[in-house]
Amino acid sequence: MKNNTQQKLDALARKFSQISADDVDVYGNGDAPNGKYYRTYNQREALAAVPEAKTNRIINRICDELNIDYKIGNTWRINQVYLNQIKHYLNKERNKEAPIISRIASVVMIGILKGGAGKTSVATILATGMVSQASRMYKVLLIDLDPQKTASSQLVPNISKKDISIGDLMIHQGTNAEFNDKLKLAIKETNFPNLNVITAADRDRQYDIFVKEQEIAADKKGENYSCYKDLERVIKAVENDYDLILIDTPPHFTASNMSAHFVADNIVMPVKPSELDWDSAGMYMSFLSRTYDVFQYLGHEGYKNIKLLISAQSPNSNAESRLAHKLRMAAGMEHCFVTSIPRSDAILATAEQRCTIFDMSVSEFSGTKTSLRKAQESANALINEFELMINE
Ligand SMILES: Nc1ncnc2c1ncn2[C@@H]1O[C@H](COP(=O)(O)OP(=O)(O)O)[C@@H](O)[C@H]1O
Ligand SMILES: [Mg+2]
Repeated sequence: MKNNTQQKLDALARKFSQISADDVDVYGNGDAPNGKYYRTYNQREALAAVPEAKTNRIINRICDELNIDYKIGNTWRINQVYLNQIKHYLNKERNKEAPIISRIASVVMIGILKGGAGKTSVATILATGMVSQASRMYKVLLIDLDPQKTASSQLVPNISKKDISIGDLMIHQGTNAEFNDKLKLAIKETNFPNLNVITAADRDRQYDIFVKEQEIAADKKGENYSCYKDLERVIKAVENDYDLILIDTPPHFTASNMSAHFVADNIVMPVKPSELDWDSAGMYMSFLSRTYDVFQYLGHEGYKNIKLLISAQSPNSNAESRLAHKLRMAAGMEHCFVTSIPRSDAILATAEQRCTIFDMSVSEFSGTKTSLRKAQESANALINEFELMINE
């Protein structure tokens, strides 16, 4: 019996490819290098972001001194680039910036072997939050190890298939000079001057095949090949340029996910407080305890932090607060963030526009303003806690 399935599927495929092509038009025309618009701040928001500036008069004076034009018609508004310049200026005045020489990035991987747990949301909120809300000026690199590339398309909506991905870097076999050239091209700028991204690509799924080939080739020659070194090479090449490297990971065992565990010195595990996720957290812990033996053998120096982060918790659900409590008790204080990320419409609404809750100020948000304000407030508490963690 024919029922036009082929035609229906063709039509669906066409429709959906058009939707994603439209996306690029909508999000690819902004003034920032990633095709987005820079976040802008009205005077009140700017003062909240740079409390050291204290008063309207002082912030205006600093703007004048730095040649920042804050008048758009009759309204006061500056963008993220100018806001960073003001922060920079005040930090210099107060000698608050860490000397570059001592910089070695903390490497934090966001992982749990389950899809939909909130890994990517947490990774992108931490990335954009640490470059816009933190008390200091951090330089942050996010590496997207998930070939589904959700984080990449959110932070760098204008990537194309031709762009060099993290997978391309990991399989690089040419000279070091060629590697460094590729790396430079792979590091993408965003609408936050202090946030860079190395994106993922669909073809990165083939990395596992590459690893198998390398293993066989090494075996034939009586040599050793450890895939962990492929990602480690990328990290070593950039660790002095950043304060923080965040790694978003796929939801299953892959060679690159294992490598993320090897290069990281901190693990953040987002868990949604529902029964099913409870099981996946348990499974992930036993995976970690089993594989760590191997990492230690290969020279891993130990994780500074392994922390659960309760994500997408419904503010009104008693069952979810019970489960969150159960998770916290099981993990213990040392292994759980005090702050959790509430389930929030603003997180969904901004994601729909390929943004995080920190890509825009409340005054620019077209959705429910209270919802964005609340989401930003609780994420700010997380940023504080996270900052303390990496500076310990
Ligand atoms: N705090 C939250 N509030 C509302 N929606 C959320 C929240 N965290 C995640 N989500 C949504 O849940 C889905 C899965 O989240 P995601 O971060 O992509 O998970 P993962 O990367 O672990 O697969 C996405 O649609 C995301 O927008
Ligand atoms: Mg994800």
